[in-house]
Amino acid sequence: MKNYIQADPWNIIEEGFDPSLNKISESLFSIGNGKMGQRANFEEAYSGETLQGSYVAGIYFPDKTRVGWWKNGYPPTFDKVINSTNWIGLDIYIDDERLDLAKCKIKQFKRVLNMQEGYLQRTFVVELSGSRTIDVNSIRFCSIADDEIAAIQYSITPLNFDAKLKVLSIVDGDIVNQDSNYDFKFWDAVKDHSSENGIFLQTKTLKTGFELCVGAKTELFSDGHLVIPTEKVVKKQEKWIAEEFILELNAGNTINIVKIACVQSSLNHSVDQLISSCEEKLAVASRVGFDKLREHQKLAWANKWEQSDIKIEGDIKAQQAIRFNIFQLFQTYTGTDSRLNIGPKGFTGEKYAGATYWDTEAYCIPFYLSTAPQEVGRNLLVYRYNHLQKAIENAEMLGFKNGAALYPMVTMDGTESHNEWEITFEEIHRNGAIAYAIHNYITYTQDWDYLAEYGLEVLIAIARFWKQRVNWSEDRKKYVILGVTGPNEYENNVNNNWYTNYLAVWCLNYTREALDYVNAHNRSRYEEILKSIDFIPVEIEQWKDIADNMYFPYHEELNIYLQQDGYLDKEQLLVKDLPASERPLNQKWSWDRILRSCFIKQADVLQGMYFFEDDFDLADLRRNFDFYEPRTVHESSLSPCIHSILAAKLNDEARAYEFYLRTARLDLDDYNNDTEDGLHITSMAGTWMSIVQGFAGMRVKNNQLYFQPFLPEQWKSFTFNIGFREKILSIQIDKETIEITNSSTESLSVTVGHSQYEIEGTSSLIIRL
Ligand code: BGC
Repeated sequence: MKNYIQADPWNIIEEGFDPSLNKISESLFSIGNGKMGQRANFEEAYSGETLQGSYVAGIYFPDKTRVGWWKNGYPPTFDKVINSTNWIGLDIYIDDERLDLAKCKIKQFKRVLNMQEGYLQRTFVVELSGSRTIDVNSIRFCSIADDEIAAIQYSITPLNFDAKLKVLSIVDGDIVNQDSNYDFKFWDAVKDHSSENGIFLQTKTLKTGFELCVGAKTELFSDGHLVIPTEKVVKKQEKWIAEEFILELNAGNTINIVKIACVQSSLNHSVDQLISSCEEKLAVASRVGFDKLREHQKLAWANKWEQSDIKIEGDIKAQQAIRFNIFQLFQTYTGTDSRLNIGPKGFTGEKYAGATYWDTEAYCIPFYLSTAPQEVGRNLLVYRYNHLQKAIENAEMLGFKNGAALYPMVTMDGTESHNEWEITFEEIHRNGAIAYAIHNYITYTQDWDYLAEYGLEVLIAIARFWKQRVNWSEDRKKYVILGVTGPNEYENNVNNNWYTNYLAVWCLNYTREALDYVNAHNRSRYEEILKSIDFIPVEIEQWKDIADNMYFPYHEELNIYLQQDGYLDKEQLLVKDLPASERPLNQKWSWDRILRSCFIKQADVLQGMYFFEDDFDLADLRRNFDFYEPRTVHESSLSPCIHSILAAKLNDEARAYEFYLRTARLDLDDYNNDTEDGLHITSMAGTWMSIVQGFAGMRVKNNQLYFQPFLPEQWKSFTFNIGFREKILSIQIDKETIEITNSSTESLSVTVGHSQYEIEGTSSLIIRL
């Protein structure tokens, strides 16, 4: 655990430079705009430890699978979002000495991520050879107002000498991935171009053939006036283009290097016109200029915060943490393009390959539903709808038929990318999360049209999968699901994982309800769908039979649902008895030992009790929580948030807060010693859930908002903004009251605890708790 980030309500601040923390900071200070993003690498050269990372959403490479022993059904490739053209480079030479923070004396250093306005700032004073001292101030952002534009203003002041300055402003497409199975470089050169509008580099991914054009226009200013350098030349190498500027700079004078970049790809532009369209757009952005672009960025972020901010009074570290989580989620996904999704590390590192996991449906959907316009949540669902055919093909590869779909565990384009059999073939609960997200979305938005238009087809294909994946046990006289991995990846190939069985039954029942709904409300679409998929009515009967006769492992004496048939055969130990030196288990124990132990990686039975909370009473939840939590090591970042919400429901406020802390500052304090690989973006949505669903107890019940709040003892109050069916609400909770402000013109019914209230349009209601 680290403690070097300074507490501040709106900023992430690092003072002083410790090279051993640099890769962690590169992750923490990452910037992005949903379409592109990058680690907080330095603009100037840096020869110390660094993980270079610049990513463009949706641009991936199918890296050839590497496994020890090939098994039929393994996907041939592991698709990954790859490191792409780096536009930030400003190689600085002062009197021929290259600026490199690993090589000079650092007298002052400060890095700030301004989350309110959406930019990264770095200021430093360094001493070069001969006691020559320079002051540098750089500001950089990826615009969310226009997500193809990004900009840097890099200001240099020689403090005690007259300098000859050489600046190489680089667009570098000669990029490698740290994670590359066969050490390939994933990019080919296509062409380059330079003009008075800037320098441009077009490259193309091998195999997938995505083309990317990155243009950059660099200008120098002093006191707001354009400076004409003494020399300016364009330099080129393979997959690399730069503009070199040479100028004289007197002691005490500041030069502002403004570099504006435009990043466009064949995902949105025709390949033949990539350079010309990039050039055109860059010319416009350069005319707008750095200051105005930054102003647009500030406004765009203000809009985002209006619907999503959470204010915490009385705990500055908690305040900083929740804003950091929200900020990073919006930097990763803005929801304007249904081809994109949310990688568990977003644009902050290579781990998890920038691919889509069940995290999106199980953890991220609630966040985006409440904090962004409805189309954002819808686009996340449409993403899976568009992958339905591929999910059917994935299932066919494993021997399923008749339109059964198995969505991938890890994917970029709908095909499975994961290649560990115990996950690829067995962690099938992900299919259920995709169905659950449809239900969640419709419950929150009442967008029933979604069901007829898209949802039903997905549900039927998933139901068909479950129908074929269960088998009848003559011995138990029940349906069983054999050979699975539940959310707890610390045991594999188990039989009757309770969570998976429960989810399968729920999917089968929900699909039947969905069929009835579409039949009743949109008969022609109903018939159209059924015809197109050769549906036969007996399928509904079969689903009902399975749902009514599913086996659920249960232990009479303990009165708990059993995580899987053999769970109690394991030696029953508790996490509190594990020596600290043996944690985290996944770094300290052999995999064999982990698999045989009773220790649970993340919520499993409890994940099911969270999803389907209305099916269980509090006593039931308490018994299961008290049994499973002490056996849970929370070694997935997705675990503490579910436990926080459930602890809140059980009125265990102290533990709810304790779990919340584990998720909220997971990256800021580098709890798991892995922030340098990138941030845990998807679990950040879980942090948001801990506050909104946990502390505020927010749900949608009986078609209206419901709250069951409490205030963590450490806080004076907290306020969060949410969008709910075209209305923006602000909910403030303190020790004694909840105040709900309805800023729309229509009135709104809400339930708080057991009472129902009506809040008039543009007014607030204060309710005593
Ligand atoms: C978790 C999975 C999760 C993945 C990506 C794993 O450690 O066990 O549930 O989908 O990380 O976040």
